[in-house]
Amino acid sequence: MPTTASIRTAVLRSTVLALTVSWFTLSPGISADDSRTQVMLEALSRLKGRDLEANPALKNAVLNVLKQVDGKPAAVEIIRDFQLKDQAQALLDFALKNPTDPAAAEALKTILAFDRSDLIRPSLAADLPAGVLVDLLGVTAENRISPLLIPIVVDTKRDVGLRRRAVKSLARVQEGVVGLIALAKDDRLPPDVRGIATTELNAVRWPQLKAEAARILPPPVVQGDRALPPIAELLQWAGDASKGAVIFRRPTVNCIGCHQVGTEGSDFGPALTEIGTKLGKDALFDSILDPSAGIGFGYETWQFELKNGDEAFGLIGSETEDQVVLKVPGGTPQRLKKSEIRQRTQQKLSIMPANLQAALSAQEFVDLIAYLASLKKP
Ligand code: HEC
Repeated sequence: MPTTASIRTAVLRSTVLALTVSWFTLSPGISADDSRTQVMLEALSRLKGRDLEANPALKNAVLNVLKQVDGKPAAVEIIRDFQLKDQAQALLDFALKNPTDPAAAEALKTILAFDRSDLIRPSLAADLPAGVLVDLLGVTAENRISPLLIPIVVDTKRDVGLRRRAVKSLARVQEGVVGLIALAKDDRLPPDVRGIATTELNAVRWPQLKAEAARILPPPVVQGDRALPPIAELLQWAGDASKGAVIFRRPTVNCIGCHQVGTEGSDFGPALTEIGTKLGKDALFDSILDPSAGIGFGYETWQFELKNGDEAFGLIGSETEDQVVLKVPGGTPQRLKKSEIRQRTQQKLSIMPANLQAALSAQEFVDLIAYLASLKKP
């Protein structure tokens, strides 16, 4: 039995509804800035969740208001609140046009809730909006982003920066973390995103997944297999550049065997004479922990397969019409006749070994970075 109060509420509700509907329908051409629009939106928000299909008049009214707030954050709310699935494209357009608006992530979240990932996919395939979308999808914190972003992570033809952003977004949702761990397990996680995946997955908030990540993608260590303290913390430590200079030349890490400082050292890798001007300290930490993440132009690693079955591996020092000069660490350049080469493939992994800091204590690592940071343009 309905109580008197509930009957009264019901009557009141339907009156409000009727009034609102007629008012919306009778008020065409109101600009979105109009204060009446604000009032309409406010009234609409009280009606959300109603089944519009059962109430064509209300649907008309809602669509009318939607037209007035076209392209505005309010439109996102209306489409979400009234489940206007046929307006999903408008949501995507909004997100692409207003990526920094807080409603942009909400727009994408709504598309995912409508089960319309298919709308997002083409934009992820294009280079321009993809970066923004990849970040926003992370903000939605929806598990459904996983099937959209995993293919980007493994598509090594795409920009490494974009793929790193995809890893970061995936690490924000459980399904994404599960997907990344599965890639690492199957040995399908490309090496140039391994570093970022390691950092992100070892910091996730789901204890079981975090433990699994630590097994499969162990976090970086320093000497004695001790966990490397977070970079943010190391940045606070005082480093001794003169000690770092000695470490740079120490045979166990042998930076000098591949890099020149001034005229000293080998010119295999890029000269580091002014590296402190080029990279800040956090980028310097990264360049040692994860050399494959940002390989400079001309320092890509190549693998050559020769017709006689031999293989060669190194950096291309120079190339002419009939030969390639291959630089190999610590050795004399190797000349390959082009007529002897069957094929060449570019490697995703830097030729600079990762994890060189594992031979140093955390303090020594900080000293080394202090030294690199001190190498500046005169
Ligand atoms: C086997 C050779 C090799 C060794 C050993 C090596 N590097 Fe490298 N390093 C390279 C190559 C090649 C590159 C360029 C490709 C890349 O960025 O990964 C590079 C890149 C760098 C960069 C980025 C340079 C830039 O201009 O962006 C820094 C910084 C660096 N190395 C520091 C070091 C330090 C410090 C050590 C010792 C702990 C070291 N490297 C050991 C080969 C080496």
